[in-house]
Amino acid sequence: MGNAANIVWHASKVTKQERQQRNRHKSAVLWFTGLSGSGKSTLSAALEKELFQLGVHTYRLDGDNIRHGLNQNLGFSPEDRAENIRRIGEVAKLMVDAGLMTLTAFISPYQKDREQVRNILEENEFIEVYVKCSLEACEKRDPKGLYKKARAGEIKAFTGIDAPYEEPSDPELTIDTENQSLEESIKTITAYLKEKGYLTESLLV
Ligand code: ADX
Repeated sequence: MGNAANIVWHASKVTKQERQQRNRHKSAVLWFTGLSGSGKSTLSAALEKELFQLGVHTYRLDGDNIRHGLNQNLGFSPEDRAENIRRIGEVAKLMVDAGLMTLTAFISPYQKDREQVRNILEENEFIEVYVKCSLEACEKRDPKGLYKKARAGEIKAFTGIDAPYEEPSDPELTIDTENQSLEESIKTITAYLKEKGYLTESLLV
């Protein structure tokens, strides 16, 4: 439980609901998960741009960037990945509280770690987006040359090669980046957000 024994939660005078009303949209986490090279960063960055242009207050957290700062002391053991995801989950929760539509792009290979994030958020605040792409296709894309290094044994415990990726069992959305264009994928996600009432009509006119 850490060292939170003598710490008292202090409520803000501005509520999450008031922030959402002012923003004219709900706040939630769009949690992108998938193999390295599956398209999480590309997709979440393009979606963020689209949402921003619609007037949505957004922020995006990305694996490679967060590992340069907040999580620079973490590696890729199962324990460190769990801690990586736990911290991101807490940061994302704060952003949701601040009224932001928050996008996260982390491999987040373990079902248990993703479920833990879902559990600290309220109902409907965690939208799991499985960025689906076969290992073969990711390896062929190899945008950072990391699969090549992993195959050569220069990187250990690389997801998909010698570390596991657990597919989401019941994601809110699955985006197949091998068969769907970026434009189609963005349409699918924005349509979902409209249909489920995350984006209110008044925002869209
Ligand atoms: S996670 O597993 O803890 O969710 P995260 O998304 O933060 O991973 O970081 C993944 C990025 O770190 C990859 O896109 C890749 O650029 C880099 N990386 C370096 N080493 C590894 C590794 N062993 N396994 C996976 N990704 C790695």
